[in-house]
Amino acid sequence: MWTYHKLCTSKVRLDNKVAVITGANTGIGKETARDFYRRGARVILACRNVEKAKEAVEDIKNNPFPSTESQQYKDELGELAIYSLDLCSLKSIKECAKKLLTNEPVIHILINNAGIMMSPHEKTEDGFELQLQSNYLGHFLLTLLLLPKIRSSAPGCRIVNVSSLAHVFGNIHFDDMNLERSYGPLKAYAQSKLANILFTKELARRLKEAEISGINVYSLHPGVVRTELGRYFDRTIVLGAKFFYRHIMRLFIKNPTQGAQTIIHCAVDEKVADETGLYYGECRAIRPQWKARDDRIAKDLWDQTCRLLHLEPNDENLTTFLQTISRQLAE
Ligand SMILES: NC(=O)c1ccc[n+]([C@@H]2O[C@H](COP(=O)([O-])OP(=O)(O)OC[C@H]3O[C@@H](n4cnc5c(N)ncnc54)[C@H](OP(=O)(O)O)[C@@H]3O)[C@@H](O)[C@H]2O)c1
Repeated sequence: MWTYHKLCTSKVRLDNKVAVITGANTGIGKETARDFYRRGARVILACRNVEKAKEAVEDIKNNPFPSTESQQYKDELGELAIYSLDLCSLKSIKECAKKLLTNEPVIHILINNAGIMMSPHEKTEDGFELQLQSNYLGHFLLTLLLLPKIRSSAPGCRIVNVSSLAHVFGNIHFDDMNLERSYGPLKAYAQSKLANILFTKELARRLKEAEISGINVYSLHPGVVRTELGRYFDRTIVLGAKFFYRHIMRLFIKNPTQGAQTIIHCAVDEKVADETGLYYGECRAIRPQWKARDDRIAKDLWDQTCRLLHLEPNDENLTTFLQTISRQLAE
């Protein structure tokens, strides 16, 4: 197979660290879970398909090491746990967050990885366009609900939002976020992935402004990777596109282990410990398209998202805002 890929070279251990990974039952998320498990973390697979998550846990336990590494790591392995999470349901997100807040004394790493690409036009039970909620809105809410716990686990905490190069095709359609007027599968995906980067930037700014230290935020493009992400392609591109992506393109694209490297880099590498709010590709900070760098769009998106999710009043002070949200969750 021919691909260009950079590896995360950090050998840092994650003993006594707790990491939550959404969509960790397959693809890039599962390989990230495998890596963190090897580094000694307690890894929480937050997944909607719990049976598939159980299979992933068995696979990770039985094969914790890629063959090339088996001689290098001799230390203790971590722990694996499964929590049910369906990002298409705000109710499920709140329930998952409540359980995590109750059961887990600390959370150091949150990987917002789960996602779908180019689905047909559908709405979630909450009335949002499917990709908008799965890829962006759901992770926004989950992150804010877990932030108090992450804050109390700091320093050394990191939040990683898995975006995509496809954000370059994106716009934030403030007057039609659900794309009711002109839906396009790529348009919706690109919007959601642009939103991931803007959220990263704005959260980093708000953390800084609220003088909350010890939590860094990253967004990234993992590369083009052979995973189940093409599951909708036959329906929204052309019949046979899914087969082409998985079987023909496999010669030219990354495998999931390679695809997980930039996530792992952002989540653990000492080299980026002092960076926050940036976008990464191939294990280094890169420049996203101009809209993803625009402070005004980032702030407007945050405000609009709070309105959509009824997280109001949206206080400019992050500390008091988080207190309001926690109170709302407890009600
Ligand atoms: N593969 C690529 O080339 C590529 C390129 C750029 C960016 N990315 C991004 O990388 C991330 C991981 O994708 P992948 O390539 O590993 O794809 P994948 O193999 O399809 O994995 C996606 C994961 O997300 C989960 N998921 C989807 N909708 C969910 C929901 N509503 N609630 C909870 N979990 C949900 C899936 O769970 P189920 O098994 O239950 O469906 C699965 O575990 C995505 O954010 C994607 O946009 C991938």
